[in-house]
Amino acid sequence: MKVACVVGARPNFMKIGPVIEGLRAFPDLEPILVHTGQHYDAAMSKVFFEDLELPEPDVYLDVGSDTHSRQTAKVMVEFEAWVESEKPDYVVVVGDVNSTLACSLVASKLRIRLGHVEAGLRSYDREMPEEINRLVTDSIADELFTSCADAAPNLLREGVDPARIHFVGNVMIDSLVRHREKAAGSGVLQILGLQEKGFTLVTLHRPSNVDMPEVFRDILGALGTLSGEKPVIFPVHPRSRKRIEEFGLGDLLRTHPDLRLVDPLGYLDFLKLMENAALMVTDSGGIQEETTFLGIPCLTVRLNTERPVTVSEGTNTMVGVDPEKIVSEGLDALRNGGKRGTIPELWDGHTGERIAKVLSRIAEETA
Ligand code: UD1
Repeated sequence: MKVACVVGARPNFMKIGPVIEGLRAFPDLEPILVHTGQHYDAAMSKVFFEDLELPEPDVYLDVGSDTHSRQTAKVMVEFEAWVESEKPDYVVVVGDVNSTLACSLVASKLRIRLGHVEAGLRSYDREMPEEINRLVTDSIADELFTSCADAAPNLLREGVDPARIHFVGNVMIDSLVRHREKAAGSGVLQILGLQEKGFTLVTLHRPSNVDMPEVFRDILGALGTLSGEKPVIFPVHPRSRKRIEEFGLGDLLRTHPDLRLVDPLGYLDFLKLMENAALMVTDSGGIQEETTFLGIPCLTVRLNTERPVTVSEGTNTMVGVDPEKIVSEGLDALRNGGKRGTIPELWDGHTGERIAKVLSRIAEETA
């Protein structure tokens, strides 16, 4: 069975490696890696292939950035042409980015069986483009691979046949487990002049946080205040970098020299920083899970999360976008050690194998 494994944007890269590795253990499964090119900068894409030791993509669709509809449409046109010529038997998509949605639609329209890894997560916030991508992908996927116990009830409420739902655990944690030792050897702490547990690490790039000048200014102001306690390291996503320039936020940053903006980091350096941070502040999805696994307190700068298990069981606290709350929760965590948690079920490093087993069974049935 030829299995097209699709990646497009940064948060996909750490999810696909374990799937490919799992598939390779079965002689009847042939993984083919498709990169849509949604993310194309070396710092957003290439470095992850190197750090995660991913195979070179078998095919690169080179779609680039654009409005959501144009980007999604471009991926569809290019992926459809590739599917028509290469005729994969199965398509695996991961996560919730525009490439996930686009390739799911193509597979579904061409009647190619489709598996969605990280199915069933719901923020119940349709303002988030990712929520729309998750809803549509799950509604047309044939196999829904879930990462946590709360995902299946979401899917069942939407009428998904329980036989299609496979609780396999968290693939991103597979990658983390595989690369943790190597990341420990990263020299990033020395390069940035940081002490173990001596800094706060930040990522921010959600349109809802960075696309409105007053919201972004308030959040940066709160981070500036936190930097008075311990330095704050903020690897800046290209979208956020653009907004800082556009909104003239450089002045604010100059008044807080310990709020330090750096270029986006590779997987290993970022993992090393996360593991050694006193506190994480983020609006990313995956980082909420990674910090829960690592036991690092995390403040999520959003009103809701599609990953509630990181709050109920893990180290995550939702702080919304109120700067006072970010400061009070942040200072509390920095001074008192922050929230402790436990590791959710099946976040054990073996998810890729479980996905491959399901696909191998399908290969047998359809042979
Ligand atoms: C995408 C995902 C988001 C994910 C994020 C992680 C969707 C809907 N969103 O958002 O879920 O959390 O990736 O990074 O798919 N850009 C570059 N270089 C690149 C890529 C992007 O400069 O390699 C710039 C472009 O100006 C682009 C902007 O960043 O317009 C946004 O990129 P895009 O892929 O549209 O969405 P992200 O905000 O990265």
